[in-house]
Amino acid sequence: MAEKPWDGRFSEKTDRSVEAFSSSIDFDKRLYIYDVEGSIAHCKMLAKQSIISEDEASSLIEGLGSIKREIGRGDFHFDDTLEDIHMHIEGSLGEHAGSASHKLHTARSRNDQISLDVRMYLRSEVLCIAKNLMELRQIIIDLAKKHSDVIMPGYTHLQRAQPVLLSHHLMAYYEMFSRDTERLKEGLKRINVMPLGSAALAGTTYPIDRAYVAELLNFPEISANSIDAVSDRDFIVEFIASASICMMHFSRFSEELILWSSSEFGFIELSDSFATGSSIMPQKKNPDVPELVRGKTGRVYGNLVSVLTTMKSLPLAYNRDMQEDKEPLFDTVDVLKACIDIYAKMLPQLKINKEKMYEASTTGFLNATDFADYLVGRGMPFRKAHSCAGQAVSFALSKNKEIHELTLKELKTFSSLVKKEIFDILTPEQMVNRRETEGGTATGKVAAAIKAAEKNLKEELAQVNKQ
Ligand code: ARG
Repeated sequence: MAEKPWDGRFSEKTDRSVEAFSSSIDFDKRLYIYDVEGSIAHCKMLAKQSIISEDEASSLIEGLGSIKREIGRGDFHFDDTLEDIHMHIEGSLGEHAGSASHKLHTARSRNDQISLDVRMYLRSEVLCIAKNLMELRQIIIDLAKKHSDVIMPGYTHLQRAQPVLLSHHLMAYYEMFSRDTERLKEGLKRINVMPLGSAALAGTTYPIDRAYVAELLNFPEISANSIDAVSDRDFIVEFIASASICMMHFSRFSEELILWSSSEFGFIELSDSFATGSSIMPQKKNPDVPELVRGKTGRVYGNLVSVLTTMKSLPLAYNRDMQEDKEPLFDTVDVLKACIDIYAKMLPQLKINKEKMYEASTTGFLNATDFADYLVGRGMPFRKAHSCAGQAVSFALSKNKEIHELTLKELKTFSSLVKKEIFDILTPEQMVNRRETEGGTATGKVAAAIKAAEKNLKEELAQVNKQ
């Protein structure tokens, strides 16, 4: 059984069941790189401030490097009697750095150390997620460009509403994922704050140089209040909240892919490599990937509520409850990355059924608004025009026809303003292309939106690559 750093105060050994119960090593070992880097910076600072000698610092730094490599190779022995990653690394430092190892933890507590490790981990993951989201956005742009001439029904209340370009619909997701990227990156400002030096909660009596540690670890800021630094996890909550919003977008996208690939819609087909079959029904091709993405959204929301609930009512400063923030955080990172990755692979392989989409936009009276707008263009007030168009829909329904399938004579019964050219504007192409509003679905507007998006994305990527 390993010795505990607090042995001095205790006359009895920790119960085995307590060790197993309180251990976090199974999940916090993924922080090892940051724990080592943080410790190296801490050592350098201790030496610079003459709190330890240069020789001691060098052997500590060398030892920490070997431990990092050992863990990286998978040769390191983890054991739940040593509780967490901090104690594992410090514990094995004796073998590598001799007596100097006992000095590593000077002017530091695991309370500020864990906050540092998580912040370093999260800022690196956020940058990675942001980049992955940017790549996905490029894939959405590519898909929109590839299918730039596909017209489909746009929906409200899941009822056919007005025809839109598929590319316009896809670019709506581009916008959502752009805001998600932005939200995640904005959170970086609050993650990127260096807490070390707060020690257990009150700061330390040693003459440390916090700004130097921040500089070594590339933090633009140090925390302003030691109690706050060791006790808040708002940056984790904020990250999971941003991830939840992003997952909500994925879930809506998934829902549409699931609907669109059903026989009822028949708009798309998932490639065989991104669908699964049924073990009993030979005809089935199931959209499991989007279904799982939709399902995992619930899990991420759960992670958000989990950390919020853990933090609720905790008295300042550090409480062990806060160890429970790790699994929901790590799970959120893993799930979000996996969903971005699978979407980036699945989307380029989508088969689009252009004819089916087009056909669906010619039935269901999607041109009723345009009929009303036509009458308005000829001087009729909109409310009256709306009513005339409604009557035309009702009449057409009774004849089992669409508005554009009625004769000119029939159409004229709803208003004498109707002329032959009405038929030109009732086509899906015209309905799409006459919506030239900024941000509207007209071909030219969508092409311009795609061009602008591509330009912004390129600049954004260049910027994030610099970080
Ligand atoms: N495993 C702990 C956590 O995740 C590290 C900090 C432990 N601090 C303590 N005083 N027990 O929060």
